[in-house]
Amino acid sequence: MVIKTAEFVKSSAKWQECPEPVLPEYAFIGRSNVGKSSLINAMMNHKDLAKTSGTPGKTQLINHFLINEAWYLTDLPGYGYARVSKSLRKDFEKLITNYILNRKNLVNLFVLVDARHTPQAIDIEFIEWCGENGIPFSIVFTKADKLKPNVIITNVENYKTELLKTWEDLPEVYVTSAEKKTGGDEILKFIATTNDFLKQNAVSFD
Ligand code: GTP
Ligand code: MG
Repeated sequence: MVIKTAEFVKSSAKWQECPEPVLPEYAFIGRSNVGKSSLINAMMNHKDLAKTSGTPGKTQLINHFLINEAWYLTDLPGYGYARVSKSLRKDFEKLITNYILNRKNLVNLFVLVDARHTPQAIDIEFIEWCGENGIPFSIVFTKADKLKPNVIITNVENYKTELLKTWEDLPEVYVTSAEKKTGGDEILKFIATTNDFLKQNAVSFD
């Protein structure tokens, strides 16, 4: 997919404030600091469309970007950020889960996980929660530039093995680096194909 336009639309503190759900929407989710905002920028070939930071907890609102005037890309706050109070963490979790459960036009969630780590309980729990609630998702490994190719393969395989303990079928898996701008094209290809399907089948979200 060629990105002709990528515009910031708005930041919302709750799902009710998000833009009208009239276009297909794809959202990036994952632990704080995993690289959600960076990958959005890399895919959009834009340096600072989404705000990034070395300090976890940068993205605290639901951020909507309108792409090619045809679909929304959404940058969500990270979950599991340890260095905020318990009540604030709960508020973030509520914001995220309410958005996911109520957003009518949400077509797919991209769950980002750091390619360097073994499966983390918090990510597995989140993925299970998606399953229990029938939320379609894909897994996106981030920061692949920090690893040697053979280590990436091993880590991805380990992840799949972990998922297969509870899932019959594996979701789509992408390996990406925002730094090297790799893997984002595959995600865009998936989004383009899905958008075409929705259009051909005249799917509306109301
Ligand atoms: P929150 O908004 O806090 O939830 O974080 P986020 O998931 O949006 O992460 P963000 O994109 O802000 O990136 C966090 C840090 O990781 C920054 O210092 C980025 O430069 C770094 N980073 C992100 N993606 C990559 C990558 O592909 N490779 C490398 N080497 N660093 C990355
Ligand atoms: Mg962010």
